Amino acid sequence: MLQVSSCGIGVALRRLESTTMRNTCKKCLVLIFSIGGLIALFRTWSQETSSGVDLRPRHGSSVKTLLVGQIEDINGGYEDVAFRIKEQVARQLARNSCVCLADKETFQLPFSNLLFPRVWAHKLDTVFLESHPDPEGVKRHRAQEYSKSQSRSYSPADLPIVAKANSPLQYPTQGVEVRPLKTIILPGLGLKEGKKSMHTVSLTATLGTFDVAATVDSVSVKGEGEKHVILSSRDLSALNRLLQFVTYTNTVFHPKTADTVEFATEGHRSFFTIKVGHGSIPRLYNTGTQKEYNISALVTIACKTFIRYDKLKDLIDSIRQYYPTITIVIADDSEHPEPVTGPHIEHYIMPFGKGWFAGRNLAVSQVITKYVLWVDDDFIFSANTKLEKMVDILEKTSLDLVGGAVREVTGYTATYRHTLSVEEGGEEGDCLHVRSGYHHVIEDFPNCVVADAVINFFMGRTYKVQQVGFNPRMSRQAHLEFFIDALGSLHIASCSDVIVNHASKIKLPWGETDTQKAYQKFRYNNAESNIHNEDFYFKNRFKCQTGN
Ligand SMILES: *[C@@H]1O[C@H](CO)[C@@H](O)[C@H](O)[C@H]1NC(C)=O
Repeated sequence: MLQVSSCGIGVALRRLESTTMRNTCKKCLVLIFSIGGLIALFRTWSQETSSGVDLRPRHGSSVKTLLVGQIEDINGGYEDVAFRIKEQVARQLARNSCVCLADKETFQLPFSNLLFPRVWAHKLDTVFLESHPDPEGVKRHRAQEYSKSQSRSYSPADLPIVAKANSPLQYPTQGVEVRPLKTIILPGLGLKEGKKSMHTVSLTATLGTFDVAATVDSVSVKGEGEKHVILSSRDLSALNRLLQFVTYTNTVFHPKTADTVEFATEGHRSFFTIKVGHGSIPRLYNTGTQKEYNISALVTIACKTFIRYDKLKDLIDSIRQYYPTITIVIADDSEHPEPVTGPHIEHYIMPFGKGWFAGRNLAVSQVITKYVLWVDDDFIFSANTKLEKMVDILEKTSLDLVGGAVREVTGYTATYRHTLSVEEGGEEGDCLHVRSGYHHVIEDFPNCVVADAVINFFMGRTYKVQQVGFNPRMSRQAHLEFFIDALGSLHIASCSDVIVNHASKIKLPWGETDTQKAYQKFRYNNAESNIHNEDFYFKNRFKCQTGN
């Protein structure tokens, strides 16, 4: 064992890891390997016999109770000091009690709704529960699923920690991270206090153990290799010296969690978190080193079609005028699929009527370029459809997805910019607020704004769009659903200067061809609206949607 420790486990010694180590430590390595082998053997044996690691979410740990109590203590006091509430400010605070209210109609004129759009409110809970045979049962089931999902996503790092005043303890408040089952030096630990006959600190963890990577004369250490360690010395400087060598080893594997460590001395306790987890693996695309953007190498066009082969052909022809070698991926769920062929075209035939979002999912899943451009099958490229502009903003900013504009035959150009916000609403569910508009203009890109939802014509980072995915339950009409799922994970913008044309949408009924009639009948049916209500009510746990 002596030989093993002289070989160097720990940080100060990592520097030695060069030449000398190779020669002197060959014997040690053999020893380490045999010990390692023994440990591995013991582990397999003990795993087989022991009951294993408890993977149930640890929501109500003792540390949590401690921390919550600590905050309550700190917030107490000063009851005898009077205060006046500032209504204007206080009203902005979330109260976990959103209400489903539409704007009142103040005056009524023809077109007044167009000029002054009022906010409408849709009571999803009422609408969905009324149509359900067992409303109480489905409510209970939603509550259970919600509570399970909350505890799965819970991280000890989410707990608020307050540092008390005048603590003699010095410790890191954030940025400490360890890989699962690995060891780190805890940075920044110290004790700053006056002369005492004995100086003592202790550290306590729940998901790992402490040790010291060095020894310092006159400092005693109790509990090395355990979850609770005590360091004490008559000499404060010596104690602080050893505190520079305290290590933490994670012992309970988890790919992403945190350990809350208590650091204490006589009369004082402090807490800090150590993030435990694998690092995130980069997803890089090798796109070559040309000076100008090579759109064919960077972008794939993805599209879903359903029996509108005439429209699709016009789209492909228009794309080829400007981008002759860009790959086009087409997902097709027509009943009698027709061949769509040509260079750089991938045509995927799906079971009949699989639907809109299923097709988007399939098309996007096949993309291997850095970016994917979503188009509808009735769009037409023009000289204004400059994909270079979308690539440029995605290359130069932190944005993940950028929408363009769609010009109707009437000349009207739509960007469909919306902001989304979710207001907490307690047990009944939350409120989703959808509003026309955007958050702010983007510097250096005066035609672009940041928003939460954009139009059907957008370019995104392929792997980010794939991560969010398209819920295949939404088979006919869906769009907002993707952006709700993307809330908090995609950074989204809308640029008004990248324009695609829309082949005529509004057709007079007597001018419709049979294909158009079949398409209309299939796409716009009402049976699906209940699926939308259910998805919002159950899957997203909304009780209300408002919009304008
Ligand atoms: C652009 O990319 C395509 C596809 O990777 C490639 O075939 C083509 O040679 C590239 N063009 C230039 C000018 O590098």
